[in-house]
Amino acid sequence: MDAYDVLDELSEAAAELVHRGLVLASGGNVSIRVGDTVYISPTGARLHALSPETFAQVDLHTGKRLNEFKPSSELPMHLACYRARPDAVAVIHCHPPHVTALASLGLTLPAMTADFFVYLDALYLPLVPYITPGTEALAQAVAEKLAQAPAVLLGNHGIIATGPSVKRTLDRVLLAEETARVYLLAKQHSEPRVLNEEDWRALREAHYGKGQ
Ligand code: 13P
Repeated sequence: MDAYDVLDELSEAAAELVHRGLVLASGGNVSIRVGDTVYISPTGARLHALSPETFAQVDLHTGKRLNEFKPSSELPMHLACYRARPDAVAVIHCHPPHVTALASLGLTLPAMTADFFVYLDALYLPLVPYITPGTEALAQAVAEKLAQAPAVLLGNHGIIATGPSVKRTLDRVLLAEETARVYLLAKQHSEPRVLNEEDWRALREAHYGKGQ
């Protein structure tokens, strides 16, 4: 797969975020890394209308612009993700309603179903409380939390997810939103049981989700 094909896939994933109500208008941004080049949606772009030739290109190490398109204002956060997680090939930032509600309550996202472990490879998703969007301070806070999990909740803002492919990164965002919805629904009645380390170990022993 060359860069054009992956950007085509990323454009489709970004449109899916809009169609599923996980981001609106020009909110959110997406990127991929190909070698030392990061291709990122341009600032102000509407995520349902991206195409491979509209992405801004930036050097991963210096942050220097490599073409005429102005990168997303969240470029510092995307670059920090690639630097913090060498396994990251794609990064998606969007504003899923249930995830954003949970993060704004100051809560982390616990594992509610077995698929959480399969897709997110973590016991819970950590939280970065609200920091002004687009700042280096936000990028640094996110990079620190990415040591614990491949995605991070952003208070009063949304989520940022990394992954080894566009598909896996999109699945992580979708799974996080599904989990936040289930968690908040359950919490309206009482404090739900959440899955723990022991549940995760038992799933690994049962080889659950190996085909995903
Ligand atoms: P950009 O249009 O600059 O990518 O900003 C959108 C956004 O969601 C900021 O968090």
